[in-house]
Amino acid sequence: MTFDIQRLFSIVAGQLRASEIRELLKLLDRPEMISFAGGLPNPAAFPISAMKQIVTHVMQDHAPEALQYGPTEGHFRLRSAIARGMGQHFGAPQDVDNILITTGSQQALSLLCTVLLDPDDIVLTASPTYLGALLAFNACRARVHGVATDAEGVIPEALEEQLRALGNDSHRAKFIYLVPTFDNPTGRTMGPTRRQRIYDLAGQYDLLIIEDDPYGLLRYEGEPVAPIKSLDREGRVAYLGSFSKILAPGFRVGWLAAEATLMRKAVLAKQAQDICTTVFGQYCVFEAMVHDMLFRHIESICALYRAKRDLMLDAIQNEFPSVIRWNRPCGGLFLWLELPDAIDATELLPKAITNNVAYVTGKPFFPDGTGHNTLRLNFSYAQDQHIVEGIKRLSNVFRAAIDAVDSGAGVDRIAIF
Ligand SMILES: Cc1ncc(COP(=O)(O)O)c(C=O)c1O
Repeated sequence: MTFDIQRLFSIVAGQLRASEIRELLKLLDRPEMISFAGGLPNPAAFPISAMKQIVTHVMQDHAPEALQYGPTEGHFRLRSAIARGMGQHFGAPQDVDNILITTGSQQALSLLCTVLLDPDDIVLTASPTYLGALLAFNACRARVHGVATDAEGVIPEALEEQLRALGNDSHRAKFIYLVPTFDNPTGRTMGPTRRQRIYDLAGQYDLLIIEDDPYGLLRYEGEPVAPIKSLDREGRVAYLGSFSKILAPGFRVGWLAAEATLMRKAVLAKQAQDICTTVFGQYCVFEAMVHDMLFRHIESICALYRAKRDLMLDAIQNEFPSVIRWNRPCGGLFLWLELPDAIDATELLPKAITNNVAYVTGKPFFPDGTGHNTLRLNFSYAQDQHIVEGIKRLSNVFRAAIDAVDSGAGVDRIAIF
């Protein structure tokens, strides 16, 4: 009898599909490809020589602890530094007991899903929202209710209407998931008034807010907006932070700041997942924090990405047909585009790839599968000359599609080589 592994898969495994982004990341390997698809930091933004010194220091002075298993909660001194930093930089001081170090903020999200969601529970999110969050919600078989957005993200009136409409299902709603600052995929930022309004709504409907904030410190212009966590007086906000975009994702160090009871459950769930986050990585990140290297470094990343954002925006302004709409984010890694309604960004992608330029289609970021004419562009990764050339290539693809629509031909009949 042949062994049929399929038969043994769980319901969740049966539903797992490769994410479009993962598939597209493979394209980065083709030398002629200019990819705006991934969400990768630029390797030029990695502080390689400073980290060499830090790694040497950790091995010389802390090797016995740094190479050992560590507490599930994380390296105590790193947790303390984060707790202090959240007060200094975000106006949201924390007790060290409220900080759990996680294997990237993705793990924090997955831990929260594990301890909060039963199958058929309801999660409210912006529509569109971060794909990795949708994957985590789906893995728990939650029902995801996408809330309409505008240039500031989730529209409070739309959220309120959806919360009211839950009726008998309201006890199944667990949390509102938000990326309020320099959102992935849209780059949008929610203003302070709207943050307060959403925090109040969460209170009114007795829901938790998960505030996912990996990009908040990557601001290229304008005044910082305090995280929703800074409004929290009752432990209603679980805040996710990450060193991936401000230091290096290879360390896989992020954190969860949450109230004590939720924290204890998350620690128990983490014990079952990975025992502890890489201790060596935590020591390196801690040294970067205490030697004041991190914040100087963030300034240099911001200068690099600000220039790339501006270059991409200028190229778009010069090249793109006027019927395409795009935004001008004040930070983060992404621009968000809307093509004319008659154009499907997913159908157009193979044409773009044929022309050696890649983007991520917007559709997978929408919980209800809408957003056919949207797409995300990453501006942090590509080299400057590739940004200019890539936008030219994209512009040709878009123009041909728009001309084809105007002349009544379908997208599949456009030939651009
Ligand atoms: C909104 C958002 N949350 C979480 C993550 C995961 O980041 P980490 O590397 O900290 O796991 C990402 C990564 O791109 C992200 O965009």
